[in-house]
Amino acid sequence: MQRGLKKYFINSSAIGATAFLVILVLGLFIFPSPRGEIITVPACTQPENDCRRNGLPYQDLSLRIDDRLNDLLGRMNNAEKIGQMALVEKDSLHSPADIAKYGLGALMSGGGNKPADPSLAGWQNMIGAFQTEAARTRWAIPILYGVDANHGHGNLPGATLFPHQIGIAAANDPKLAREVARAAAEEIVASGVSWVYSPDLDIAQDMRWGRVYETFGSNPERVTRLGTAYLQGLRSINDIRPLAVTAKHFLGNGATLWGSSISRNFSIDQGNTILSEDALRTHLEPFRIAVQAGADTVMVGLNKWNGEKVVFNNHLINGTLKSELGFNGFVVSDWYGVYEKENNKYNALVKAVNAGVDMVMLPYDYEMFSRDMQKAIANGDISQERLDEAARRILKVKFVIGLFDKEPMGSDSLIIPNSGHREIARRAVRQSLVVLKDDGVLPLSKKTRRLYVAGSAADNIGRQSGGWSVEWQGFDGNGVSGTSILQGIEAALSPSTHIEYDEHGMFPESAERADIGIAVVGERPYAEGWGDNPHPELSREDLEAIARLKKRCAQVVVIIISGRPLDIARPAQAWDAVIAAWLPGSEGAGVADVLFGDFPFSGSLPVVWNLDTH
Ligand code: BGC
Repeated sequence: MQRGLKKYFINSSAIGATAFLVILVLGLFIFPSPRGEIITVPACTQPENDCRRNGLPYQDLSLRIDDRLNDLLGRMNNAEKIGQMALVEKDSLHSPADIAKYGLGALMSGGGNKPADPSLAGWQNMIGAFQTEAARTRWAIPILYGVDANHGHGNLPGATLFPHQIGIAAANDPKLAREVARAAAEEIVASGVSWVYSPDLDIAQDMRWGRVYETFGSNPERVTRLGTAYLQGLRSINDIRPLAVTAKHFLGNGATLWGSSISRNFSIDQGNTILSEDALRTHLEPFRIAVQAGADTVMVGLNKWNGEKVVFNNHLINGTLKSELGFNGFVVSDWYGVYEKENNKYNALVKAVNAGVDMVMLPYDYEMFSRDMQKAIANGDISQERLDEAARRILKVKFVIGLFDKEPMGSDSLIIPNSGHREIARRAVRQSLVVLKDDGVLPLSKKTRRLYVAGSAADNIGRQSGGWSVEWQGFDGNGVSGTSILQGIEAALSPSTHIEYDEHGMFPESAERADIGIAVVGERPYAEGWGDNPHPELSREDLEAIARLKKRCAQVVVIIISGRPLDIARPAQAWDAVIAAWLPGSEGAGVADVLFGDFPFSGSLPVVWNLDTH
């Protein structure tokens, strides 16, 4: 499943098409559009339609940012300011020329969405072409290009897939979080991307939520500390390339209630957070520190607070975030959040912008947005001051990160796959492992004579990477560069250990019993509400594979691949050791590093995971 594909198709049968056209033409005569024309953005009149080097003061790197900003804003008309407020999913662009026509401020790839040629060069070419379109406007304001890179640049084949945030949280080491984020940022900017929707600062409360693994866990202090370090790591790339970073999802998005989702398909994601304001403030802490650490943008969540969408909440966005916390960057809405389930799209937009949303994510219809914004400014539903403030905040971020000045591309020194980054990822995997149970088996001896390996996640980089990996909902199998956990185990041991692998644990009765059995089992990949699950547990197939394996081994170690705690309290009584490996990503070898004692187990639980059966 991929985000951002065009949703509407028209049946192309001749009769259908003719009938459609007749109705459309009649409709236009009888009901001329009540909404009026959209005022478009003046084109560049310089040679070759490229206004990037027009020599105006706002292009002058030697001037102060505020002077450059004032110069540019003073030149812009309302259509241009409105254009800056639009963030369009690349697949809903009707034509690349619309970038200049509407003066769009930003484009993005939704989860799993990549260029037709998804290689590094493919990404660079796609974003480079979009920037060329943006330069066809008279002020040639560069676009921000945004992606979700929740654990590395998941939409770029060959990019390093680091452990998901929940694993980084288990490692609980801010220095490591900073290093991981920096390495991820290097791969992100190499592709021309200039905006990342990370880190996730939600404080996860309900382990049934499909987004627990995107967070740094349930402990506000740990979320704040690691979130800040991660944010600093991402931002540190700005010394060489422009990259805006995002603190999300403001506010209370990790505390929605089961059964309250506005989506028919989900249970808790996109739900309602019912809390007093005092209690909600626990969720504010990571944002407070992230603002101090220089978050460029804040994404407002898809959740409600006490029955009202946060995206419409003036008190929280204008009041708490902008005035109280002193946030100077810009506020962006999440996906279709402004419009979702709103009958009156115009009123919804007015409410969100007046509540303080500066840039609107537009997965589907940016023309409606432009038209409605122009109408709202003309009739005073949104004030000129509000429009000016939104444009100022957005352009300020563009100046601060150096989008006007720095070369956005830069793969020159970056080879993908990058061995240095993979080493960091492998270290992160090692540090993230948490021992849930050990009856004296761990670490395993490298001198083990005979070893059996089983389980659905043992030889499957897709499973161990989880959602937001190659595709929005992740993938199954070993089709990317990296190491499965089985491959790591094989590489760690000498030829004197006899290793056999069978996913289902079917080792023949006739064969000798093994000293040790390792089962690697867990959740299938999922993302967002698609992972909401009333009872996260192991599948019957996994439990059967472990039971079969156990019969053929003296001792069994179970490694759990999951985005959250699973209910394994009962079956685990029969196992000798249990390890939570979270979603380690592409470098599965990090598991063997610790399993066989080259490095100590050092991770600790970022969420409650109880193995007690009472
Ligand atoms: C998610 C965000 C994400 C956005 C863009 C939304 O559905 O809630 O976390 O950044 O999509 O892909």
